[in-house]
Amino acid sequence: MTATPTSTTIRWEQDETGIVTLVLDDPDQSANTMNQAFRESIAAIADRAEAEKDSIRGIVFTSAKKTFFAGGDLKDMIKVGPEHAQQAFDMGMGIKRALRRIETLGKPVVAAINGAALGGGYEIALACHHRIALDAPGSKIGLPEVTLGLLPAGGGVTRTVRLMGIADALLKVLLQGTQYSPQRALENGLVHEVAATPEEMLAKARAFIETHPESQQPWDVKGYRIPGGTPSNPKFAANLPAFPANLKKQLNGAPFPAPRNILAAAVEGSQVDFETAQVIEARYFTELLTGQTAKNMIQAFFFDLQAVNSGANRPKGIERRKVRKVAVLGAGMMGAGIAYSCARAGIEVVLKDVNADAAARGKAYSEKLLDKALSRGRTTEAKRAELLARITPTADPADLAGCDAVIEAVFEDQALKHKVFQEIQHVVEPDALLCSNTSTLPITLLAEGVERPVDFIGLHFFSPVDKMPLVEIIKGERTGDEALARAFDLVRQINKTPIVVNDSRGFFTSRVIGQFINEGVAMVGEGVEPASVEQAAAQAGYPAKVLSLMDELTLTLPRKIRNETRRAVKESGGTWTPHPADAVIDRLVDDFGRTGRSGGAGFYDYVDGRRAGLWPGLREHFAKPGVHVPFEDMKERMLFSEALDTVRCLEEGVLTSVADANIGSIMGIGFPAWTGGVLQYINGYEGGAGVGKGLPGFVARARELAAAYGERFEPPALLVEKAERGEVFTDE
Ligand code: NAI
Repeated sequence: MTATPTSTTIRWEQDETGIVTLVLDDPDQSANTMNQAFRESIAAIADRAEAEKDSIRGIVFTSAKKTFFAGGDLKDMIKVGPEHAQQAFDMGMGIKRALRRIETLGKPVVAAINGAALGGGYEIALACHHRIALDAPGSKIGLPEVTLGLLPAGGGVTRTVRLMGIADALLKVLLQGTQYSPQRALENGLVHEVAATPEEMLAKARAFIETHPESQQPWDVKGYRIPGGTPSNPKFAANLPAFPANLKKQLNGAPFPAPRNILAAAVEGSQVDFETAQVIEARYFTELLTGQTAKNMIQAFFFDLQAVNSGANRPKGIERRKVRKVAVLGAGMMGAGIAYSCARAGIEVVLKDVNADAAARGKAYSEKLLDKALSRGRTTEAKRAELLARITPTADPADLAGCDAVIEAVFEDQALKHKVFQEIQHVVEPDALLCSNTSTLPITLLAEGVERPVDFIGLHFFSPVDKMPLVEIIKGERTGDEALARAFDLVRQINKTPIVVNDSRGFFTSRVIGQFINEGVAMVGEGVEPASVEQAAAQAGYPAKVLSLMDELTLTLPRKIRNETRRAVKESGGTWTPHPADAVIDRLVDDFGRTGRSGGAGFYDYVDGRRAGLWPGLREHFAKPGVHVPFEDMKERMLFSEALDTVRCLEEGVLTSVADANIGSIMGIGFPAWTGGVLQYINGYEGGAGVGKGLPGFVARARELAAAYGERFEPPALLVEKAERGEVFTDE
């Protein structure tokens, strides 16, 4: 008799019928992860299962935690450098081998997925012959590794390709990192069954074991072929559906290696046997894990996002409060979206505009969104009706009685904003939170128009509100901590991510995105081919091209802001330095009447409101033959312009947290996700052409750009000092 190997994070519970339940239950953590203890445990479990095989009738994986299994241990993974490549490869192979031994034991293995199974959790489930998901609230299933710059390396690529074919595996599971609800996981073939209760789930697991005593994976059955064929089949290439446009962009040049490695692991792995495919998967994974992009993305999308959402920036010691009834002033584009987002979170909404028709139009926007959701099966008639019943359109200020929060979204006009607050400040609750969605007006000035400036705060939403996850909270000079805490709670209540900044022109997001746009426009002024400017933005990884973005925002808006800022700077005795973009914008507007998309002509031509191509006049009036700006410089000028201004925001106290900067830049203004955000981009700067890495490399490169393109690239003192001290940007 062999000694029974022991395991610390997986409990072995065998009943009298021979069914072994493997309970995932890490004693040291709130969630199960693929840490060192798990690696040892799963190997010990495989040993024991083989040793005691004859007494086993079947195996059920389930978990004692709220989630089934959380995935890799990101605290460990972020530290893995190229020097640890072999070790990381071996550790990954160890888990794969153990799961494979259980999968091929010759006994039925069932995953009873009692909660979220993302990444490693779903990979354990994939190694099971049968997958049953409990329809628990918040339960999500999928392989989101790509969103952290990684690939699923617990057999996830190898098995999904064999389960659903290369095309579906890539598009439904691997390349987008989609997280499915149990029901949608069932519809898309990720699980076999959904159970309504834990008891039902376990009964189904038992039933499967009883009816499939000699279960095998489809790919272990003789004569198995990958569904839909493999690239060695000539028909295959024609059948691989076109990649979604954004993915194409990621694959075509943006420095974002995960989708490329996933594609390679899937395609190469499909042409070899299972064991070799696992080795290929591990190699591509190790390359990603030891590289900089995964570290950037783990930092941003895991650690920074968690810090921001959990309230690292929320004043301490103030009780959490929920808003019951909100007044939304202005039912235009933003007000209508804000009303929908609040009603979706269960808050009563009074949506006020100047007349009943305008208010009703604002509510109709919610109807439109809900009709679309209904037609796609994302909501039900009952939920649609419930949500709509929560929105009361009105033109009568008296209807705002009882509101404990106000969000103003009327035209961008200081006097009008003052007027609408005066009209309602005695109608709403006496301590109601007062928020403005202004995009450019200083909060401190707006607060002068209300009787309780201590309760007044900026709540800057992004368009379209129902889709954009970020809200920038802006503290005015007189905003109180209580108001900040309540604003923070309100943003979380509507399931959005709050960053907190201090008042300044353009706050953080609008100010910094302005630098990106100005840099692109300046290049046109230098005589660079406009199509190259657009391509540089795309290849740097920006989701929107720079000149088209300018057109969307309109060319007159930055002019207005610039003129106001110039006046304010001069009034305060400061010096005003024009940006080279200014002259280009002035010429387009003044000489050619091109004001952007809404005016029907801008950097692009428009036909029937649709973008028709870059205006040929740009080349005629601006291009200078012989001008050569290296492509790498073009990309870095855009990225650096935003990064440098963000450091200035830290210096000036507009920003107070690194996590806010990183998350705000990616989720609010499209700073490329592969960088991990605007300050992580500096931390992880990889340099080139001999300038070096990290902060010192970034400083050296900024000086090169300053010498070549202008003083605006001179590194701010804070950056230089940090580089000299060997520090990085961090909140710790
Ligand atoms: P919009 O022009 O679509 O809507 C403004 C609405 O306010 C109109 O329906 C108008 O009838 C209404 N209104 C005017 N006077 C009113 C009054 N006395 N009482 C009640 N309602 C009144 O404008 P949009 O785009 O929705 O912008 C609203 C605010 O949000 C502005 O301050 C803007 O700067 C800001 N913002 C806009 C963003 C955008 O992408 N459009 C992004 C972030 C902020």
